[in-house]
Amino acid sequence: MTSETLRLSGRRALVTGGASGIGAATATLFAAEGAAVVIADLPSHCDAAESVVASIEKDGGVARFVPTDVTDATAVELAVATCVDTFGGIDAVVASAGVSAHPGRTGSFNSLLDLEPEHFAFVLDVNVTGVFLTARAAARRMLDTGGSIVVLASIAAKRPTAGVYSVSKAGAWMLTRCLAHELAPHRIRVNAIGPGYVETELLDGMARRSGGPDADAQARWRTTREQQVPLQRLGQPLEIARTALFLVSDEGSYFTGSLLHPDGGVASAFAGG
Ligand SMILES: NC(=O)c1ccc[n+]([C@@H]2O[C@H](COP(=O)([O-])OP(=O)(O)OC[C@H]3O[C@@H](n4cnc5c(N)ncnc54)[C@H](O)[C@@H]3O)[C@@H](O)[C@H]2O)c1
Repeated sequence: MTSETLRLSGRRALVTGGASGIGAATATLFAAEGAAVVIADLPSHCDAAESVVASIEKDGGVARFVPTDVTDATAVELAVATCVDTFGGIDAVVASAGVSAHPGRTGSFNSLLDLEPEHFAFVLDVNVTGVFLTARAAARRMLDTGGSIVVLASIAAKRPTAGVYSVSKAGAWMLTRCLAHELAPHRIRVNAIGPGYVETELLDGMARRSGGPDADAQARWRTTREQQVPLQRLGQPLEIARTALFLVSDEGSYFTGSLLHPDGGVASAFAGG
């Protein structure tokens, strides 16, 4: 493909959570489609992030890693500033950084009754405040140029079955709609993606918390999820990345405030569409 036919040729993108899973697939796909990409992820994920950068560069793409905790406003400003200073601007953001539970949480991830307040706050901090800080920092740089912001929500935004994770994803969805409403006059589009069950580290963590240390119980948890999906399989990170690509590209030019579900039919069957 020539650079003119690439769907993000000349664009500059920030992907939070880009060291792993959906974020890594998105950063890789965006770079393959011609975007210069800043990957923002936790300093503890430096090796994973640098290997995504190396793989992008090996394929002729352009990427940088900026160690970033999305709950830290100053760090997020720095990640956005790196995109603007290194690549000359920022056109697209995918807020993929997210957690299913506090790392110290041992019980099921979906129970609220025995949840510590600091564990509740941790999930909201990353999944809602982190998205707010990311979108705020990027949108301030897009006010004159326009741009596109994509938020990783979840089918959990519409299903009250995942405890604080559901609460946080419902918050991320409403945050998306509020931002879309506020930023539309500036030609900044803001949309959310609501995947179902995608094969990533985050899903593995849910299986461990729900199934405990028993590998068979974890496998049963995954099989049950697979059987719930009308398409009868888990999703792959690339399938979600393609949705993000559609939303930030010119093909998504009339979408704002929407929630798209690349989920094998779960939202349609079990979450009201
Ligand atoms: N995997 C699924 O089944 C699924 C389903 C629906 C929604 N989602 C959402 O998609 C997004 C990506 O999840 P994934 O499945 O790729 O998970 P993942 O665990 O593979 O990747 C998440 C990334 O976010 C990073 N991260 C976590 N906290 C951070 C912080 N404070 N600052 C910066 N980076 C941070 C992690 O280091 C990791 O690299 C999340 O928002 C998740 O809630 C995932």
